[in-house]
Amino acid sequence: MSEGNGPVTVKIILIGNSGVGKSSFMNRYVNHRFTSMYRATIGTDFFSKAVSLDGHSVTLQIWDTAGTERFQSLGTPLYRGAHCCMLVFDVTSKASFIALDNWRKEFLVQGEPQDPSDFPFIVLGNKTDLSDREVSRKKALQWCEEIGAEYFEGSAKDDLNVEQPFLRAAWSGLQQY
Ligand code: GTP
Repeated sequence: MSEGNGPVTVKIILIGNSGVGKSSFMNRYVNHRFTSMYRATIGTDFFSKAVSLDGHSVTLQIWDTAGTERFQSLGTPLYRGAHCCMLVFDVTSKASFIALDNWRKEFLVQGEPQDPSDFPFIVLGNKTDLSDREVSRKKALQWCEEIGAEYFEGSAKDDLNVEQPFLRAAWSGLQQY
């Protein structure tokens, strides 16, 4: 990390199946809002948020991509230059968890990070407010250990553990300056 305290920009990409709650999680973090209405992301939405970390001013540039296959290819050029990738799944959907392996591979191919083996991934299990859970914390942690990612779980709806994964992502981005 450089010594200066000038503002740095950290680019974070959110990917994962359609409906897992990527937009909701980001909206909760950036705008402190939640809606139960579903509106598919078309292409990519971009949001900025300023945070202070360890005396550094960090501008988080958060890219919310479309999980729908139809719009996916629009997002892939935007993977380039990312400092951190958040792989989002819905804890009540095993399929959305299994799909993360492909999302991760796709990110590594399209994003072309300098050091793929050391690239920071954060795995995020959303919708812990729901009772019909299909993916246990243990199972998620096991996979994260295999791929060397950090694991967080929470709920955009209940505003649970929303800030922590973004701050962790900000921190991993800051380390790259
Ligand atoms: P795409 O834009 O298609 O990729 O979907 P997305 O991953 O951005 O999902 P989105 O945020 O649009 O949420 C999909 C649905 O899940 C919406 O109806 C949300 O209200 C709901 N949802 C999101 N987060 C939560 C949560 O934490 N708990 C519950 N119960 N529902 C949630």
